[in-house]
Amino acid sequence: MPQIFTASADTWLRAGVLLAAMGVLVTGLLWDGAIGSSYITAVGWVRDQPVPFSHKHHVGDVGIDCRYCHTTVETGPHAGFPATHTCMTCHSQLWTSAPALAPVRDSLATGTPIRWQRVARLPDYVYFNHSIHVARGVPCVTCHGRVDQMPLMMRAQPFQMRWCLDCHRDPGPHLRPPDQVTRMDWRAWDREGHADYGPHQAALLGIKPERMTDCTLCHR
Ligand code: HEC
Ligand code: HEC
Ligand code: HEC
Ligand code: HEC
Ligand code: HEC
Repeated sequence: MPQIFTASADTWLRAGVLLAAMGVLVTGLLWDGAIGSSYITAVGWVRDQPVPFSHKHHVGDVGIDCRYCHTTVETGPHAGFPATHTCMTCHSQLWTSAPALAPVRDSLATGTPIRWQRVARLPDYVYFNHSIHVARGVPCVTCHGRVDQMPLMMRAQPFQMRWCLDCHRDPGPHLRPPDQVTRMDWRAWDREGHADYGPHQAALLGIKPERMTDCTLCHR
């Protein structure tokens, strides 16, 4: 039989096939890990913001309630972002010439809202509504983490479908009295009689897990 390949070409061919096979294997392994990794879910990553706004400072140290800035969180689907004049109620008096606040002063002068980079965001084909979660007593901290300890905002939860569904199958243990939802450090087990509050409340409200996993609830 005539030799089609030289001995060295044959070696290269074998090496090539081997490399390709290893490539497929490694890609598979990486992809598997990536689905749940922080690279895909963006958990724990911060983004560059036009103003280095600190929740740790304003919520943790100064003690401002979430609803002062995210005014529509109780009444509508979106929590919303504060208008520039909300910042200026304090910063027209405090830190009036701080360089970090220059974009805030410009925004007020020009009437152009500050363009914040979004951290917590769902794809457009998913329907979400803040007001119902707040009304039922699902705390901000469950979905957004300890924002009172974040110098820069970062995503605390993966916001993948299975994360939503895990709670929707059994929301009881997550619930607390609705007037406590913005408290970052509220713990049921610290409070006599509140440990059973959630499950009891879920029964009282008639929350039905089978309705809460219905596809059309979130994909309308
Ligand atoms: C003094 C005003 C102020 C208060 C009080 C405040 N926030 Fe914010 N929040 C902002 C501003 C401004 C942004 C946009 C900049 C950023 O991401 O840090 C923001 C962004 C966020 C985001 C990121 C949303 C996204 O998709 O980018 C979340 C989540 C959030 N806030 C939750 C909370 C919670 C929970 C509380 C109460 C514990 C709270 N905030 C209190 C002003 C405030
Ligand atoms: C059940 C989980 C959950 C709870 C509870 C929750 N959030 Fe959110 N939040 C989300 C999701 C999911 C998004 C992204 C929504 C989107 O992109 O449509 C979001 C987005 C936001 C944003 C960005 C602006 C917007 O409305 O999209 C802010 C600000 C925010 N949340 C603040 C709050 C505050 C303050 C509370 C408590 C009073 C709270 N959230 C409670 C899940 C939650
Ligand atoms: C209720 C009052 C109040 C409101 C409203 C408020 N701040 Fe502040 N902010 C403060 C105080 C107080 C400090 C300084 C605290 C300190 O350093 O001791 C501060 C500090 C800052 C700093 C400087 C932080 C640093 O260490 O460099 C920035 C930037 C800032 N705020 C941005 C904003 C923005 C943007 C808004 C609107 C979304 C806002 N603030 C709304 C009270 C407020
Ligand atoms: C920690 C618990 C928890 C998490 C996490 C959670 N939910 Fe909910 N969700 C609830 C509860 C409680 C209700 C209220 C059910 C009721 O009253 O029947 C609800 C209701 C809803 C509703 C119904 C609104 C309506 O108009 O009837 C939608 C839509 C929804 N959730 C979407 C989501 C999405 C999307 C996510 C994930 C991004 C999510 N939820 C994560 C607890 C949760
Ligand atoms: C509680 C809310 C909720 C319910 C109920 C729900 N989904 Fe989703 N779904 C989501 C969210 C949030 C995402 C976005 C996931 C992401 O961005 O990673 C999603 C994404 C998807 C996607 C895109 C591919 C993927 O997996 O990311 C498909 C397909 C889908 N859902 C189908 C369904 C079907 C079918 C049902 C009913 C059996 C259903 N969903 C019920 C919240 C929900």
